[in-house]
Formats: sequence, structure tokens, C-alpha cells
Amino acid sequence: MSGIEILGTGSFVPDFIADNNKFSEFLDTSDEWITPRTGIKERRIMTDKPNYYMGVQAAKKAVEDANIDPKDIDLILLSTCSPDFFYPSMACLVQKAVGAENAAAIDVNSACTGFITAMDIAQKYLATGHYKTILIVATEKLSNHLDYTDRSMCILFGDAAGAAVVRKSDKPFYSMLGASGDEFEALYCKVNYDANCPFHGDDMPFYNNIFDTEAKQKYLQSDGHAVYKFAVNAMTKAVKNVAAQGGYDIGDIDLVVPHQANLRIIKKSTEMLGIDPEKVYTNIQRLGNVSSACIPVALDELNKQGRLHSGMKICFVGFGAGLTYGAIIMEI
Ligand code: ACO
Repeated sequence: MSGIEILGTGSFVPDFIADNNKFSEFLDTSDEWITPRTGIKERRIMTDKPNYYMGVQAAKKAVEDANIDPKDIDLILLSTCSPDFFYPSMACLVQKAVGAENAAAIDVNSACTGFITAMDIAQKYLATGHYKTILIVATEKLSNHLDYTDRSMCILFGDAAGAAVVRKSDKPFYSMLGASGDEFEALYCKVNYDANCPFHGDDMPFYNNIFDTEAKQKYLQSDGHAVYKFAVNAMTKAVKNVAAQGGYDIGDIDLVVPHQANLRIIKKSTEMLGIDPEKVYTNIQRLGNVSSACIPVALDELNKQGRLHSGMKICFVGFGAGLTYGAIIMEI
């Protein structure tokens, strides 16, 4: 099976920094509570622009880093679970902004697993030869979805975007994606329709019976304990799966870039897998959980730090609403 060459990376984080102390100003919380339970010290919030703006900035930087003509991009895959529009796809807005006039444009939503999903889709398109150059973007503005009176959730997330330009390579690539839809209520954010269709009934059972309170109607909802338990199991299972596919020992992996939902989840799952903590990259301390943008932002940071070397085996692993999960081991 052919693999993926990463030609260039880019990322964007907003300027506004909300450290833990800023949350103590309007909530009954503290740095002493947040840091040991989550690892998060601060996160960035996009205060004055929509989500797609961040995706466009990250995409432009990735195209520049790849040193390609935007007209050579065949496909844009954009991951987001916090879109500005139901339609068009956010990928279309990026297409216009980067001048990728020959590209098809598709949005992907598997929540925080989105970048891994998009990489997996890209690899399949590249392997068939149908597309040669793909721009993958993950952009997330979870600050639009949060209830800032809910101290257990709003402290976890931030806003950011990451991107990568990829082409086919002959290097190894192993992936797996999974979903557990029967656990969807562990993490969801409902769409708020304000429909005036005269033919709708008064009682839309799906909407009215499950989502009973105002907060549950409007904001991100999560059962933190259920997500935590799922995440640790799913991440260990996914990494074991892709390692087995490639015939790798866990010790063969040079670098692990996990989804950044909680430092304790990362530590627990990598410890269960026997991965050397030195090989695990984290940025949750500075950015919080930026959903599907976590992994590409981390990838761009690693690239800019000169830590990506030819021949390295990188593992991406994550989980998200759905509940979904996935992992990739690829040689770069
Ligand atoms: N500050 C102070 N106290 C708080 C805060 C806060 N920010 N948040 C919750 N508490 C309180 C609760 O009210 C509760 O008080 P009580 O005992 O008086 O009722 C107490 O702390 C314990 O609450 P728990 O929810 O049991 O706290 P826990 O230790 O489980 O940590 C957390 C919560 C961090 C959310 C954890 O469950 C977790 O990390 N879960 C997984 C991450 C997650 O759910 N992320 C959402 C999306 S994940 C994704 O990216 C796909």
C-alpha cells in the first residue's frame, strides 16, 4: 500500500490568550483545579473572526511551505465540527482564498478524529492516482459551541487551525478508523434550527425528548467520565491495530502525535501502550483541546522545530464525538 509525503505544513492560532486565571474571573474555578486534571494552562480564542478565516490562514501557509502552485491542488479536504455554514462546505471558502481553482472541495466531519479521517481519505485517493496533490485543512472554533457558565467543559477547548499539503509516496502507511455511534450522547452539539415550515408537527421526538434543557439544546454537551474511559481504550486499541498491520513493535514508533483532549488521557493511554513519554508530542498546555486541529497544528510545530526527518515512523491517534476513533502509522 502506498503512503503519504507531507510536502508542507501550516497552522494558525488566534492572538487572544485565555489563561486559567481569566476563567476564575467569571467562574468558580482555578488554575489549581484545571492544571492537574487536564494539563491545560491556557488556550487561544478567536474573538473577532469566523472559523474559516483560521482555516484559510493555515492553508495559505501550508501551500507556501510546500512551494507549489495552488492551481496544482486537485482536492481540498477540510475537517471541522464547528463550521460557519451548513453549506457551502468550508473547503469551498478555502479553495477561493488560496486560489486552488482546479480543486474539488469536500468537508469531513468526524469531530476530533477529523484530521486522521481526512489523511486516510487522502491516502486512498492518492493511491488510486485519481488525485495527485491534496490540501488537508482542519479548522475549529469550539468557542462558538461552548456554554461559558459550564465550568466543566468551557475550560477544555480553544480555537485553531492546521493544514498540510500531501502527495503519494512509496513509504509505508497503515490506518484504521472506528466508530461507536451508540455512545453519541457522550459528546454532542445539536444544530439549532429555527424552521418555520407549516407542515412540521409540534412534537419532533428526536429533538424535544432527548435534548430537554436549554443548555442541552444549544451548547456542546459531554459526559466527561464516559469520554475519558472511551478515549483511553480506543486510543490503545487503535495504535495496537495499526502497529500490527505494519508488523511494528511499539518501540519502533519514533514519534506519537495524539489528539490533545486531556493530558491525563494521553499519559494513561501511552503508558498502557508502553510508549516512551519522550516520543509523545503535546501542546495542550498552550492550546487546550482544538478538536481536529490538534494534530495538524502539532505537525506544523514539529516541522518548524526541525523535528521531522525522512524515514521516521510517526503515529497519529485520536478520538472524538460519534464516538469515533482512529490511528495512522506512517513513514515520512
Ligand atoms: N473548576 C472547578 N471545579 C470543577 C470544574 C472546574 N473547571 N469542573 C468541574 N468541577 C467540579 C465538578 O462540579 C465536581 O464537583 P462536585 O463533586 O461538587 O459535583 C468536581 O469538580 C468533579 O467533577 P468531575 O466531572 O468528576 O471532574 P473530573 O475529575 O472527571 O474532570 C474532565 C472533568 C476534566 C472533563 C474529565 O472528565 C475529562 O478530561 N474528560 C475527558 C475529556 C472530555 O470530556 N473532553 C470533552 C471533549 S473530548 C474530545 O476532544 C473528543
